[in-house]
Amino acid sequence: MGDLQCFEVFTLFPDAVESFARTGLLGKALDRGLVEVRATNFRDFTTDKHRSVDDTPFGGGAGMVIKPEPVVRAIEHVQRERGPMHRVLLTPSAPRFDQRAAEALAEHDRIALLCGRYEGIDDRVREHFVDACYSLGDFILNGGEVAALAIIEAVSRLREGVLGNPESTQTESFAAGPGGAYLEHPQYTRPKVFRGHEVPPVLLGGNHQAIAAWRRDQARARTFALRRDLREVEPLSAELHVAVPASVEPSAEWVEVLRRHDVMALVVLGTDPAAVMPWVQATGGRIKVVGFPSLAQLRRRLRQRHGRKPASIALARPADLAGDRPAGPQALTDPALLLDALRGPDGEGPRSAIIIAGLDPWGVDAEAVYAPAGSWTDGHAPSAGKGAQTQDQTLATGPGIEDSSRPPALMVVDLGLAGLLTRLENDG
Ligand SMILES: C[S@@+](CC[C@H](N)C(=O)[O-])C[C@H]1O[C@@H](n2cnc3c(N)ncnc32)[C@H](O)[C@@H]1O
Repeated sequence: MGDLQCFEVFTLFPDAVESFARTGLLGKALDRGLVEVRATNFRDFTTDKHRSVDDTPFGGGAGMVIKPEPVVRAIEHVQRERGPMHRVLLTPSAPRFDQRAAEALAEHDRIALLCGRYEGIDDRVREHFVDACYSLGDFILNGGEVAALAIIEAVSRLREGVLGNPESTQTESFAAGPGGAYLEHPQYTRPKVFRGHEVPPVLLGGNHQAIAAWRRDQARARTFALRRDLREVEPLSAELHVAVPASVEPSAEWVEVLRRHDVMALVVLGTDPAAVMPWVQATGGRIKVVGFPSLAQLRRRLRQRHGRKPASIALARPADLAGDRPAGPQALTDPALLLDALRGPDGEGPRSAIIIAGLDPWGVDAEAVYAPAGSWTDGHAPSAGKGAQTQDQTLATGPGIEDSSRPPALMVVDLGLAGLLTRLENDG
């Protein structure tokens, strides 16, 4: 990659492109010699006396089509004069341009952006004279210039030196991460109160850990509310076990998530056997459903069947893990969010887990606890305050957990006992 990135825009409106390029950060990058934007008019490469660039479509139909000759002549001329280019055609019939595409384009020092007008450019240009095609989105613009300018802004800001603070590109919406990207958290500035609307108090408290946790929560919640497609929730593991309390109703969404994640066994906790039936029906018998009246009972069964103490089992209070993993009210109502949260920083899901979902027994409303993947298998359980566990204890308890009348909190317990529940069920 060279120091200078050059965008060669091919258009019928070169002035519009050049004047926009002189504004804001992009204008500054031009002044500093980091970026160059050049516009070439197809019309300068016509040969007839009317300088016509378009003609009627073969086969009939509305509108006009840009002819291939002026387009290809323009490209060849610029390549001869200034060097080869990565040639991009702007068209609605193309993959959508996004941050990943911007990152890929940022690798090129010279990028040609071909802007159509009318009904577009003769398709032979796409077939034989370009390297890539992009659409700005599922809508029709009058021409490709706005799309070209959007691409120039998105790509050039990834170049070193263009942004004042290069860190911005790593923390902004759509930055690549394990399992996909997130939208950014909300941002606020002065005044603290605007027309009666306050800034979230956590941002004013100066507690950087709390601020970071709040921001992660917000980014996660927004992403799942608005752009779930940004997170590829891949199957975590065939050994993932999900347990839900009776208070959680089977829903089509739950069933879809269980199916998508190849969940083998479902444990319904804190309930009588009758409550198992709706889950059996909802899952059409495809998932094994086991009912346990309480976590304590589950523990006893695990011990009975396993013949010894299961190792490294712990539960933790939400506060103990705050900041380690984001927690939020959406976690309880949105199983996809929950499963996504199970990924470790490397994007890996846990090898085996039981998820116990429900209301929070510690009085913190609808909060979730996430175990960093793998961290509980090596005997280092996070401390859990009252009811804190050591690895010697067979199954950790937290306030309210033993009480089957109170549904347990959402917890992830890595038992390291792959397939145990399935075996339990087969045995019982
Ligand atoms: C009116 S559009 C042509 C639309 C075309 N007849 C169709 O239905 O797909 C004219 C030009 O605007 C540009 N354009 C329009 N919408 C676009 C989009 N969503 N993304 C990228 N370029 C677009 C393309 O360069 C296109 O050749």
